[in-house]
Amino acid sequence: MKLAVVVGSTRNGRQTDKVAKWVVNTATKNDISAELVDLLDYEMPFFDEAISPRYNPDRKPHDKVQVWLEKIKDFDAYVFVTPEYNHSITAVLKNALDYLTNEFYRKPTAVVSHGTVGGARAATDLKEILSECQSVVIPKSAQLFNVGMTNAVDDDGNLSEELEANPYGPKSQLETMLKELVWYSNALSAAR
Ligand SMILES: Cc1cc2nc3c(=O)[nH]c(=O)nc-3n(C[C@H](O)[C@H](O)[C@H](O)COP(=O)(O)O)c2cc1C
Repeated sequence: MKLAVVVGSTRNGRQTDKVAKWVVNTATKNDISAELVDLLDYEMPFFDEAISPRYNPDRKPHDKVQVWLEKIKDFDAYVFVTPEYNHSITAVLKNALDYLTNEFYRKPTAVVSHGTVGGARAATDLKEILSECQSVVIPKSAQLFNVGMTNAVDDDGNLSEELEANPYGPKSQLETMLKELVWYSNALSAAR
């Protein structure tokens, strides 16, 4: 399974890149080929196409958007790492998703969120959005709380010792989620 781990925040001083590195590290330890896909590397204008991309086979996306589309279609499965901004996902992530057409079609996606309440409201919104983007959103997810204030993960994506030691904490949540993602990826790629 070729896994993309998408960093859903681009602001200065963000925490989401650390969380995404934790996801990549954990996937790698579990023998999954994972790649960090950072929205900072795909600076796209605000969506401005005259026709919804899904209904426009002749669309000519901006060059920077085309690079994003080519990148994203190249994977078997996806983890989106999102913070919570005003009870939803970031504008930059929503914008990137609005450009997609069939890159996700019948492929599995999963959500890792963080925020004051584990990014729960952002995660709920994101699952709806990913579903409408025609992916198969898996039920399992993982959450972290107050990453900036608690040092839950360090700059290299290592989980704190306390969380690492908690058998019911984010480590086991994430490992379970990744196992499920592999199952869905195998099932869906066979069916495709
Ligand atoms: C504009 C903005 C709005 C936020 N709104 C919420 C919110 O509604 N709920 C929440 O739990 N945290 C909220 N937060 C806190 C963020 O989830 C937290 O700062 C997180 O680290 C942001 O991710 P980032 O550092 O990668 O940008 C907000 C932060 C920002 C910058």
